[in-house]
Amino acid sequence: MRINENYLNVKESYLFSEIARKVNDYAEKNPDKKIIRMGIGDVTLPLAPVVVEAIHKAADEMGVKETFRGYGPEQGYDFLREKIVAYYKENTIRIDINEVFISDGAKSDVGNITDLFDKDNLVLVPDPVYPVYVDTNIMNGRKIEYMQAKASNGFCPLPEPGVKADIIYLCSPNNPTGAVYSYDQLKAWVDYALKNDAIILFDAAYEAFIGDSKLPRSIYEVDGAKRCAIEFCSLSKTAGFTGTRCGYTIVPKDLKVQITKLKKLLKVDSDVVELNKLWLRRQTTKFNGVPYIVQRAAEAVFTPEGRAQIKENIDYYKQNAQIIADTMDEVGIKYFGGINSPYIWLECPGGMRSWEFFDYLLESINVVGTPGAGFGKNGEGYFRLTAFSDRESTIEAMERFKKLMTPAPEPQPEPEPEPKTEPAAEPAEAELVIEEPETAPEEESEE
Ligand SMILES: Cc1ncc(COP(=O)(O)O)c(C=O)c1O
Repeated sequence: MRINENYLNVKESYLFSEIARKVNDYAEKNPDKKIIRMGIGDVTLPLAPVVVEAIHKAADEMGVKETFRGYGPEQGYDFLREKIVAYYKENTIRIDINEVFISDGAKSDVGNITDLFDKDNLVLVPDPVYPVYVDTNIMNGRKIEYMQAKASNGFCPLPEPGVKADIIYLCSPNNPTGAVYSYDQLKAWVDYALKNDAIILFDAAYEAFIGDSKLPRSIYEVDGAKRCAIEFCSLSKTAGFTGTRCGYTIVPKDLKVQITKLKKLLKVDSDVVELNKLWLRRQTTKFNGVPYIVQRAAEAVFTPEGRAQIKENIDYYKQNAQIIADTMDEVGIKYFGGINSPYIWLECPGGMRSWEFFDYLLESINVVGTPGAGFGKNGEGYFRLTAFSDRESTIEAMERFKKLMTPAPEPQPEPEPEPKTEPAAEPAEAELVIEEPETAPEEESEE
């Protein structure tokens, strides 16, 4: 027996464990400090009431013989797929119900989709990157190239002359940078993919955070994308399903791939194969569907009531993002994201490196973020803050941040001492009230 030795090539991910280690160490040595976590990629608001109601109702159905459900369709129940078709239709995108596959979250599908592709494809991912794109391909032994996401291209890299990729990962709004591709930029990628017989794996996990109607929420807004792109969506951040687990993937029927000459000789009646059929085959073989109760919960998200309730939650996070962005503006720190995204990607001040800035924030104001260097070489010198904390913590963290980043006023000449004055106040730093220690520090979420 031999293992898949490609797994040995997957780098250990030290990012979140190192953050947790540093935070735990600091908390242990400073039990009186109130640490605020702005690094988490997990949501903090509970499920919307209409979702909870649907869960209760579905659970009751499962307890009654007549309405009990066993195995469901692997690709999801039609009641949910129809809602997703209608959701796309609002955005003037026509999707067939059989192009919708319900999943237990975008992470699984983004990883599992690689089953459909030969090892010898060249994979293009952005740097900085959501690490799942890299690790899942390394597990399959594929070669990876990085496209350079930098401040100079707004962290939205475009096709470069001379690069001939087969599989392209795009994530918009982006984790970690918060950058969002414009219509024209996505069109450049779609044109590239069509011209080069490449496929785009479009991660739209944060589409619901896009408020600007000029920005595309789906790659299918671009003509031709159905012939070259698969789209991954998630209810995790949209509707607080990080623990409930539900997402959906669109595999258009127009997405067809030429098969090799050898295979043609061996079988077959057609030169091309529909990826939709392959994915259905893969899912019906390796996946047994998302629980009925969860799919009913997801269905509730797409009702008018559900849409209104989740919008409130998204708006809450977006207001947090605005508070962070305003603070950055006030102290003159350059940042990306934060408007159509829950992530603020800021340039570490004073030329600090990412981990240096992490230590500085933790030790001086007890605020935890995520060092950009953990997402790739181009993340060095950057830092990610998330809008998923609660409002009070966000405000308090940003107050502390402002104090830290605002230069102390020039010392004024001492006024002549008057008789009988009160003792001078303590300097501002000492006013930073240290509250009760938190309960046991949690692990940072790995998203
Ligand atoms: C870009 C991106 N894609 C996918 C996921 C995973 O989402 P899910 O919870 O649906 O698996 C995340 C989670 O943080 C993410 O940031």
